[in-house]
Amino acid sequence: MKTIISKIEKKQLNNDVIEKAGKILRSGGLVAFPTETVYGLGADALNEKAAQKIYAAKGRPSDNPLIIHITNMEALKQIVSDIPEAAYIVAEKYWPGPLTMIFHKSSIVPYGTTGGLDTVAVRMPSHEIACAVIDAGGGYVAAPSANTSGRPSPTRAEHVEEDLSGRIDMIVDGGPVEIGVESTILDVSVTPPMILRPGAVTREMLCELLGDVEVDATLFEEDSKKAPKAPGMKYRHYAPKAKLCVVEGAVDMVVKEINRISAEKMQKGIRVGIIGTEETVGQYTHGNVKCIGTRQDEATVANRLYAVLREFDGENVDYILSESFSGCGIGNAVMNRLLKASGHYMIHV
Ligand code: TXA
Ligand code: MG
Repeated sequence: MKTIISKIEKKQLNNDVIEKAGKILRSGGLVAFPTETVYGLGADALNEKAAQKIYAAKGRPSDNPLIIHITNMEALKQIVSDIPEAAYIVAEKYWPGPLTMIFHKSSIVPYGTTGGLDTVAVRMPSHEIACAVIDAGGGYVAAPSANTSGRPSPTRAEHVEEDLSGRIDMIVDGGPVEIGVESTILDVSVTPPMILRPGAVTREMLCELLGDVEVDATLFEEDSKKAPKAPGMKYRHYAPKAKLCVVEGAVDMVVKEINRISAEKMQKGIRVGIIGTEETVGQYTHGNVKCIGTRQDEATVANRLYAVLREFDGENVDYILSESFSGCGIGNAVMNRLLKASGHYMIHV
């Protein structure tokens, strides 16, 4: 299959491109498009056969459910069986935006979209191109991140092309995304609501609205006996080809330890990549050093995270050492992804 790649400006929605994307979606095809978090791989969520194509294109395990993307609250009412009060409160403040909520599904949602579950994940993105594509595609678009299963999520159209060219009908190229890590997932089908995946809408922000919000205990623990509540979180994910090690501690100690380990590895002929920050990159003495952003604003780190991991893939690095981040605000999402990408391989200094 030849993948059509069409560039489009956010401020100047090119109707031909949106119309074409909509037509492909409505006839059961696959279209990748930008959202404010990461690029999504869209299919008609109410057409089981179309949703199944997503699993084949990504090499995604069939028990890993998809998020349905909508653009208005009327659409939500069609695909869920009830909307808890907490969901209205959160939607009022954070939809459209980088937040997904889990509801009990209605009968029109096929099990092929929910991985056999009676619940359904729903997101209302704010990105203009995403919204135009969803509306043109019929209003209910299932879209996981548009990467090959297991690889870092795509934050630019080029990343989608790298993974899925020839396997999907179309890529709508709307340039780099703004946030860079996937949406927060909040399960509102349980009381109190529970965060199943951290993202740009943080626990602090949700607690302020709802009071009590739990966090899935498996998110930051390696040897938890429990399975994660979001099926996708159990898979090795976001992972670069090289082994990744996260070094945690006071920043100057972290830099020292990374310098020590990288010198040792390089002596053995191992090619080392280092994930540093604006504050530290000048202090590294060995290896292929990349600046991921500034510690002063961890949103910059979230924004570059997946691109940096993909760059290392392209540069044949064997071993990556990364600094660790605060774990507060969006730093929480960054640490969750880094730990997953490293298989929880973390050194404390
Ligand atoms: O930012 C995002 O959410 C992006 C963009 C494209 O919208 N999408 C995304 O989708 O990250 P995906 O498929 O890569 O991740 C969806 C996650 C998976 O971990 C999946 O297991 C979980 O959501 N999920 C989906 N439906 C669920 C459900 N009913 N219950 C629990 N977890 C669910
Ligand atoms: Mg994904």
